[in-house]
Amino acid sequence: MAVTDAPPLLKLGIEDAIAGLALSTEAHWNQTEDDWRIFLRDGIVFGIRDGMRLVATAALLPYSGNNAWISMVLVSATHRRRGYATRLVDACLETARRNGLTSWLDATPDGAAVYGPLGFTPTLQLRRLKLARPAGPAAPPSSSATLDALRARDQRATGFDRTALLEAFAQRPGSRIVAENGAIALVRDGRTARHVGPLLADDAAAALGLVDAIVRSETSPLLLDAIASQGAFLDGLTASGWTIERPFQRMRFGPATVTGEDMPFAVAGPEFG
Ligand SMILES: CC(C)(COP(=O)(O)OP(=O)(O)OC[C@H]1O[C@@H](n2cnc3c(N)ncnc32)[C@H](O)[C@@H]1OP(=O)(O)O)[C@@H](O)C(=O)NCCC(=O)NCCS
Repeated sequence: MAVTDAPPLLKLGIEDAIAGLALSTEAHWNQTEDDWRIFLRDGIVFGIRDGMRLVATAALLPYSGNNAWISMVLVSATHRRRGYATRLVDACLETARRNGLTSWLDATPDGAAVYGPLGFTPTLQLRRLKLARPAGPAAPPSSSATLDALRARDQRATGFDRTALLEAFAQRPGSRIVAENGAIALVRDGRTARHVGPLLADDAAAALGLVDAIVRSETSPLLLDAIASQGAFLDGLTASGWTIERPFQRMRFGPATVTGEDMPFAVAGPEFG
């Protein structure tokens, strides 16, 4: 397609949340309309329409310390291999460059094929795990944990101050912050499954103990995005019925400006890091 024939990139607004949700649902992703609202309200979302229909998106969500998370890179199956994802991610990178931001993302295998040539370099690996049938309901694990404790622990692990994001998650109906034996996690609703993460703990045993307590108190399918190098944690999960659905490759564009002191056990989600 000649460049002049290429459809324009548009900046999307909060009114595009439902159209965005249609794209992530087509890809069988777990995001809700509330998730889209975070990107549309607090970030910059670029899109491409075909007539009235939104057919492609990419979002840039600014984080603290001159960082940003790129996600929601979605192209409808009817419009792939036309360079749309490349153009949209390029627009995110240009915005990041103008603002002096280092960009991060968690790539699906298909996404990694797009981002590598753009200059992203791989960092750590993640594994998406699913538990189709949790054992609940039983007594929920101690919920005395506060948002403040989660925020502080999350910052220690990621290097980002994500107060606004974690607050937005925690305020949703159905969200809870749970803690046990020094481990802490947030559980929130997704489109088809509840999502466990971020999950921070001192060691794999404490992380597994908290997951077990969550499983015993939940009745819907659960998803969790584990850091692949947390081997004992992954082994414990698969031994107790969790199945690995897919890998994600964390990638970075630009200099590393933050280093986490702790390695998380599970992240907030590939779309948020
Ligand atoms: C991944 C995705 C966004 C790519 O969108 P796209 O608009 O088709 O990508 P582009 O046309 O910009 O592709 C650019 C290059 O990336 C590579 N690429 C893209 N999709 C690929 C795939 N499925 N397999 C292998 N290489 C691929 C190719 O080299 C391609 O260049 P080419 O078409 O000239 O060979 C799209 O397939 C999609 O929405 N998939 C489902 C959701 C998803 O995984 N999103 C990524 C999240 S990290």
